[in-house]
Amino acid sequence: MSITVIYPGTFDPVTNGHTDLVERASRLFDKVIVAVATNSQKGTTFTLDERVHLVQTALAGLDNVTICGFDSLLVDFARENRAQAIVRGLRAVSDFEYEFQLAGMNRRLAPDIETLFLTPAEKYAYISSSLVKEIAALGGDVSEFVHAEVRDALKSRLS
Ligand code: COA
Repeated sequence: MSITVIYPGTFDPVTNGHTDLVERASRLFDKVIVAVATNSQKGTTFTLDERVHLVQTALAGLDNVTICGFDSLLVDFARENRAQAIVRGLRAVSDFEYEFQLAGMNRRLAPDIETLFLTPAEKYAYISSSLVKEIAALGGDVSEFVHAEVRDALKSRLS
């Protein structure tokens, strides 16, 4: 059986922590769909199209990975794409409560879709998109945390 998984997020912007997780998932599953959420609740720095473009740039070269924007319920998007599971990252214990709630709610909505968790490499455990944005906005160097094109996009958007 071919296994397709969805890796959803806001990716505002994509970080090396996200790409590390996608690389891990792409080695385990036949197809990985990175689903970039419109996310009306979180005010985003980059538009949906910009976030999709930056994710495409950061993940170029992974053959079994596709990147899509979505504006619906995650479980509906997963079903439309015949995905069997949702993959999420757990960086620290502090992620657990929110992730547990999200996984539980998604299971209530779609009992046939599993949520799987992967952990990123330790060196990425403390990265988050908002910290990266804060550092960039204050003139710090974020090269270690994001793709060069993301760094440049942050510089021109936030400075
Ligand atoms: N490396 C680095 N950072 C990571 C990371 C990793 N491996 N995994 C998560 N993060 C960070 C993100 O950068 C982000 O940081 P920020 O809050 O500082 O911006 C934070 O963790 C969480 O972001 P993300 O993983 O993108 O999740 P999210 O909470 O923004 O996205 C969705 C949640 C999109 C999955 C959820 O809102 C959703 O499913 N929406 C669709 C609508 C829907 O179905 N809603 C009902 C759900 S029950």
